[in-house]
Amino acid sequence: MEPISFLSDSEQKTQELAEDFARELQKGSLVALTGQLGAGKTVFARGLCRGLGFEGIVSSPSYTLVNIYKGRFRINHVDLYRIENTDEIADLDPDELFYPEGVTIIEWAEKIKQMLPARKWIIYLELAGKNKRRIEIFDSVWPDKIG
Ligand SMILES: Nc1ncnc2c1ncn2[C@@H]1O[C@H](COP(=O)(O)OP(=O)(O)O)[C@@H](O)[C@H]1O
Ligand SMILES: [Mg+2]
Repeated sequence: MEPISFLSDSEQKTQELAEDFARELQKGSLVALTGQLGAGKTVFARGLCRGLGFEGIVSSPSYTLVNIYKGRFRINHVDLYRIENTDEIADLDPDELFYPEGVTIIEWAEKIKQMLPARKWIIYLELAGKNKRRIEIFDSVWPDKIG
């Protein structure tokens, strides 16, 4: 399947796009976010959470790897920025992480690319100017050009 591609020219637009995209999510969905620092993964994650009915603060988990929010579903928001190898996620429950009761969102998902389940959304964000971001959405198949 061809990726769906968008050009966003503001943080607000990226968040809105993610809010709309959240309609595609259901119980068990996994969203893998990838793209360099500052690309907008957390902004996109925030939009997904809003779209899933969570109104609270969404920021990257810092001291823990996972933040859990309660929207229409339970949301696991994972950020793997700090991990150096896959052993560091050994404490996380793989069933809940990869086959969640609700929805899992993973920033820096390329770091555990080999562990991800077959069914997933892959969101690639790329800097395309100061406030511009190219956002591509892939269904399940990790594209060769990324990570
Ligand atoms: N079009 C855009 N979409 C998303 N973020 C944008 C955009 N333009 C500028 N930004 C800024 O880029 C930064 C993205 O940060 P963040 O979402 O934390 O990135 P990441 O989680 O990928 O490291 C924010 O400071 C945001 O305001
Ligand atoms: Mg982030």
